[in-house]
Amino acid sequence: MAESTETRSSVDTDVARITELLREARARTIRLIEPLSDEDLRVQHDPLMSPIVWDLGHIAHFEELWLTRNVHGKVEFGEMPGIYNPFEHPRRVRGALDLPGRDEVLEILSEVRQRVLDKLETLDLEAGDPLLRDGYVYAMVAQHEYQHNETMLQTLQLKRGSAYRAPRAFSVPDPAIQVAVGSMVRFPGGMIPIGTGDRRVAYDNERPRHLVGLQPFRIDVSPVTNAQYIAFLEDGGYSRRELWSEAGWAWKQADEASAPKYWSRDGTTWHTRVFDRTGPVDPRRPVCHVTYHEAEAFARWAGKRLPNEFEWEAAASFDPQTGAHRTFPWGEDPWTPAHANLDQLTFETAPVGAYPLNISPIGCYGMIGDAWEWTSSDFRAYPGYEMFPYPEYSETFFGSEYKVLRGGSFATRPGAIRNTFRNWDYPIRRQIFSGFRCASDD
Ligand SMILES: [Fe+2]
Repeated sequence: MAESTETRSSVDTDVARITELLREARARTIRLIEPLSDEDLRVQHDPLMSPIVWDLGHIAHFEELWLTRNVHGKVEFGEMPGIYNPFEHPRRVRGALDLPGRDEVLEILSEVRQRVLDKLETLDLEAGDPLLRDGYVYAMVAQHEYQHNETMLQTLQLKRGSAYRAPRAFSVPDPAIQVAVGSMVRFPGGMIPIGTGDRRVAYDNERPRHLVGLQPFRIDVSPVTNAQYIAFLEDGGYSRRELWSEAGWAWKQADEASAPKYWSRDGTTWHTRVFDRTGPVDPRRPVCHVTYHEAEAFARWAGKRLPNEFEWEAAASFDPQTGAHRTFPWGEDPWTPAHANLDQLTFETAPVGAYPLNISPIGCYGMIGDAWEWTSSDFRAYPGYEMFPYPEYSETFFGSEYKVLRGGSFATRPGAIRNTFRNWDYPIRRQIFSGFRCASDD
């Protein structure tokens, strides 16, 4: 009797936890779109990005697929056919699809959610199905919504017409510690554990944890700041061919890039725009909205190079003194607003030193939050990789076309970032919230 009461109450706890996880994810999505008109939701603001209403419909569609149809038993599709299938309809054509209006898409979202919650009541999360165990598939769907929230913010930074009125809830703090920007810290190398065995929230591409042999290296103690980047600019960084790779030079010439995206020059001062705020570039903040090619050219100018993703992860997670491995640079504690500039609601990067807790075991500041950091690594499967639960999340993208980014940005939700999280994009992309730090051989 006592035993069955206990079992029932742990089921109730799981149901309550999952219901709250999904509710909270949706509340944020709704908060981000509240300032938008119907027209803002419907139009394609840039060929690189979907209309916002497509993201919303796709969030509902993905949730329906995984939490009502694929939730147990056979997986029918990784992405269901239809207007919300990202492979059938690349972003540049999504503005021409027959998309729903605001009221209609909100109705679809809540109708799907109701069916998901009804189904949840009937499931056995302890039955051993790896999709359901510990509620993995629910964490996956929540994480998918978080990731689309960041994509929507990339779109809203590109928004046509009047600027997005960002619903700011927090200001970024002033620097509380001195970080020696530009200086480097040594990592001693060795056989270092990379990736994770986690099956509760991690994606298949983060698994398995495996040892990678690293030579000793040095890595910047902070992300490259706007001040450092301006020094590169003013030293002719964009016109010195020898600093750029062939592909990087070709991109720069074709794009006519002469500064990070969203920067403009007013006399001798650089200005930038973040959503609805325009002002002088703050020299203390990490540079944001640069391509891989720009990061690589800067590193060459500085006499350094970009870290590979294993060096990055070692510097963020590994303590050479104790051999311990951390989930976040600061340790195992879940993120709070004091830890790092994550979770969107500041709507901007913060000056280096603003988050005194955001320091890794070897002393690197700000590896999580503010801006994603480009690495020199192609996006590839780890040795022993096993696809789970569908190939279109990771496997479809493995290869030499994409570079790995690490660490998340101010626009990343905390449930979608950790030291082992791997993001990837084309080296020519910079509508993403992307910066970098440098490394060098020891
Ligand atoms: Fe998606």
